[in-house]
Amino acid sequence: METGIRIDYTNTLDSIDTDQMEAARDRIIEAQRLLHSGAGPGSDFLGWRDLPEKARESLHTVTEVAARIREMADVLIVVGIGGSYLGARAVIEALRSPFETEGTTVLFAGHHIDGGYLRGLLESCADRRVCVNVISKSGTTTEPALAFRVLRRWMEERYGADEAARRIFATTDAQHGALRRLADEKGYTTFEIPDDVGGRFSVLTPVGLLPIAVSGIDVGALLDGAASMRTIAVKDDADSNPALRYAMLRDALYRQGLSTEILASFHPCLAYVTEWWKQLFGESEGKDGKGIFPAAVTNTTDLHSMGQYIQDGERRLFETFLHAEHAVSDMTVPGADDNTDELDYLVGRTFSEVNAHALDGTARAHRGGGVPNATILLPDITAASLGALLYFFEYAVALSGYALGVNPFDQPGVEEYKKNMFALLAKPGHEKRREELLAQSGDNRNNIAG
Ligand code: PA5
Repeated sequence: METGIRIDYTNTLDSIDTDQMEAARDRIIEAQRLLHSGAGPGSDFLGWRDLPEKARESLHTVTEVAARIREMADVLIVVGIGGSYLGARAVIEALRSPFETEGTTVLFAGHHIDGGYLRGLLESCADRRVCVNVISKSGTTTEPALAFRVLRRWMEERYGADEAARRIFATTDAQHGALRRLADEKGYTTFEIPDDVGGRFSVLTPVGLLPIAVSGIDVGALLDGAASMRTIAVKDDADSNPALRYAMLRDALYRQGLSTEILASFHPCLAYVTEWWKQLFGESEGKDGKGIFPAAVTNTTDLHSMGQYIQDGERRLFETFLHAEHAVSDMTVPGADDNTDELDYLVGRTFSEVNAHALDGTARAHRGGGVPNATILLPDITAASLGALLYFFEYAVALSGYALGVNPFDQPGVEEYKKNMFALLAKPGHEKRREELLAQSGDNRNNIAG
């Protein structure tokens, strides 16, 4: 099956010699064996591999409930953080125009702790029919739990307890967690997050599929795209498998000390795909003192802010461009009465053509400036291509993590800030750490200027 996704790595070839590429290939092939055998670390969390097919089992229910929400609501508020919202947001923002006014709009809450945002969101919904989809695998994460406490009360006051319960949908663990208990008690419609799928790999479960379907996107096509990529990604031939090649390039460049990767999209609608990618790669690789730091920019916008550093700053960078070869919607540069703006040389050419040349010019310039770069070429920005791209990245990060010698499927580091936050907020059970932190803050107060 074809996905049309290709990777052009011409601009890395003067940085990676044949021996380095071969060595990277050996490490990535070994990682692939580990992934396929299920014998690597984190093997309890390999359920994502089968989701392109497995997710079809619940697809009917997902699309049925999505259709119900679309009838009942002008707005669906999705409450979640990290892997419980980024995938849905990435796909929706890629495929649904920000100027679209038809259909149900999906808004997001619970992905930070900013009361002003939540107040503004509720005020904007005052005259609109609302449903809520609260998503948390653990069912105990503070940010979405806080936002949902506010939203639940708002919904119950507005609609009454019974109608609110009909309009609230919970996506969580089948058995455990405070959200599961609350959902069962209140009688919300629920969706389960499989035990063997981690948060950042969950976009092809109801975590991502329900909000994506509510926004009117063809989730079947998304899964088809992912399934096509799966058949390619499992091959051990780097010339026909772009995921394998991408993992090889990252491995070879990291081992030369290039410890930051910039994912640079040339389409603003992919800005949340790059956010999703940052979480996927950052949480999967960044541990045990190792890992490539994932950064992202949207071009050409950020060429006017980050472009200077990338061209000319400290040389620890490599870059991966993300570009769609065919525009689903486009414009042609019109003629003008005069050529005062000096743009007549572009008349009759499409914005896509101009954008493609901007990418080419940037890639050559950055290569010249000592930033090796590759380009992931998407055939277009459609549900099928995005499904393939999501699976491409999931598969590549699993290979990269194993080649690095880390468990790509855990995230022990994210617990530290939570423990401090709970202690500082005087949450019962965190007394000892609270004492330690308060003793430290006595010292800190001497180090604040202004
Ligand atoms: O990838 C992960 O596991 C995390 O980023 C989680 O998705 C995030 O912390 C949210 O967790 P939960 O869904 O349990 O609320």
